[in-house]
Amino acid sequence: MKPRILVAREVFTDVLDFLARTFDVSSNQGDTPMSPEALAQALADKEGALTTLSERIDAALLAKCPKLKAVCNIAVGFNNIDLEACRERGVMATNTPGVLDASTADFTWALILATARRVNEAEAWLRAGQWHGWKLKQFLGTDVHHATLGILGMGRIGQAVARRAHGFDMTVLYHNTRRLSAEVEKSCRAAYVSMDELLARSDIFTLHTPYSPATHHLVGAKELSRMKPTAILINAARGGVVDDTALVEALKRGTIAAAGLDVFENEPGLNPEFLNLKNVVLTPHIASSTEATRHKMAMTAAENLVAALTTGKPPNLLNPSS
Ligand code: 8YV
Repeated sequence: MKPRILVAREVFTDVLDFLARTFDVSSNQGDTPMSPEALAQALADKEGALTTLSERIDAALLAKCPKLKAVCNIAVGFNNIDLEACRERGVMATNTPGVLDASTADFTWALILATARRVNEAEAWLRAGQWHGWKLKQFLGTDVHHATLGILGMGRIGQAVARRAHGFDMTVLYHNTRRLSAEVEKSCRAAYVSMDELLARSDIFTLHTPYSPATHHLVGAKELSRMKPTAILINAARGGVVDDTALVEALKRGTIAAAGLDVFENEPGLNPEFLNLKNVVLTPHIASSTEATRHKMAMTAAENLVAALTTGKPPNLLNPSS
């Protein structure tokens, strides 16, 4: 008998075929989001699960899933998984690091350019039939070239964002929990500064930190008040790292100039005030969403699951037992 697994959300067909070679697969190909109760029920007789950030894996759920041995997230972020609760129950948890760095960095640049140059606002205005002639002062934006880019969180994605800034002749500053080696700093042409200096000097401030209790509201009212009134904030990392209520206030008051946001607190139920602000570019958590990258993410998670249940040693284990 093959071990039973659940694929909690829709994935690519070849990923299902790959999993079916090893497992008895139940898959939510209809892609209906599952309530915690429905998820617990679906996992009650399963040894493994392929999950996304929509599925919360915590002690309450694990208590109802006695057979579960591995939870493999289709994401690099894993704030939907309580690692400690998994460890206590002997459940391996994995993520998909590396495969989405370049696509996420590309998309960060899409947000930077769209926000600084008011692309979405201008397009909506044009589509609404409001363009009746060229004007010198039409949709005046902010220059990205030669501006100062501040990166908070200089892991793989932050570094990929920094390298892309070279083409725009930017000054790149970063802040991180630990300073990078001189070699990496050189390859990114990025200078390490304090958080205060990063906030004060950035023309474009972009976040690339994971979400955890330590990074909850890392950027709130106090931090926003230290930024330039002309600054642009970009978040393609995780909702909750920025205090969205404080950000709305800052955007309304002109504490900062604009924001480009792919992630929000309480997704998909974002703060409705964002919808009324013209100085915000909003996208629905799609930074990693290219055909190739989402495929790699799903396949990496599937490979993790096969390795977890056949060898007990998945490549991207987040909670080693010792
Ligand atoms: C995913 C992400 O698309 O990998 C992550 O952490 O935020 C996105 O790239 C999403 O989380 C799917 O689970």
